[in-house]
Amino acid sequence: MSLLIHKSIGSMRAARMGCEGEVALVPTMGNLHDGHIALMRAAAKEAPNVIASIFVNRIQFGPTEDFDRYPRTFEADCEKLEAAGVEHVFAPLENEMYPQPQQYFVEPAANLAGVLEGASRPGHFRGVATVVLKLFNIVQPDVALFGKKDYQQWLVLQHMVRELSLPIRIVGGEIVRATDGLALSSRNGYLSVPERSEAPRLHRMLCAVRDAVRGGRRDFAALQAEAADSLNRSGWNVDYLCIRRREDLTAPADNSDGTGLVVLAAARLGNTRLIDNLEI
Ligand code: PAF
Repeated sequence: MSLLIHKSIGSMRAARMGCEGEVALVPTMGNLHDGHIALMRAAAKEAPNVIASIFVNRIQFGPTEDFDRYPRTFEADCEKLEAAGVEHVFAPLENEMYPQPQQYFVEPAANLAGVLEGASRPGHFRGVATVVLKLFNIVQPDVALFGKKDYQQWLVLQHMVRELSLPIRIVGGEIVRATDGLALSSRNGYLSVPERSEAPRLHRMLCAVRDAVRGGRRDFAALQAEAADSLNRSGWNVDYLCIRRREDLTAPADNSDGTGLVVLAAARLGNTRLIDNLEI
């Protein structure tokens, strides 16, 4: 089966209408790695028709972020999608998605979208939710899959479909890691050779925090501060390293039983900002 590439909304809609049975959508910004391919394979278990999208979405990047240098590897991405058995890819140009500057936005609730990534990247989740709603309107999937490396994004989108009554199931894909523990990410390609060998420390630190909570520590603030200090002393610049409740990313009480938690971090190594998380 060869991959069909849809550049226009009209072509994508017509192809979707031709699908028999349920449709699973996997939205991406391209530069596909094994984490994305695992999502495509998970999508094939959810529905007989899998549609991927590739669109580097300007409105979710801040003015000083890496929109311009974000890796664009369309040909290689299509080869990977075809090898994974994906039948359709929606890959619009920017003026197809945004023929004029976008004026209508989805504004996710600040209690979930204004913290952690949202605090460090103002407007980011508004850009994500807006483009994802557009993709949902174009593709009309029954189910959509998002990687849990972007844990907060996955939660924001679950809340969006619930609050806007969209008839779409949101499924989270487990994080895929390199053998040394580094979570796969398109941004790993920015790392220099020495930074790449340092990068797995982030995952090791999250494992140490998880193990400490499992071992009974409940002084969450002190534990977070120790872990962040330790990363900073190894040359990182930590944005946040926080233990939060999985369901709504609020801080756990000190008498928490230690279940239903996740530890999330964002930190810079040189010029590269990495994020990672671990369910406890
Ligand atoms: O996770 C991503 O790659 C992007 O945020 C998404 C969901 C494709 C929206 O642009």
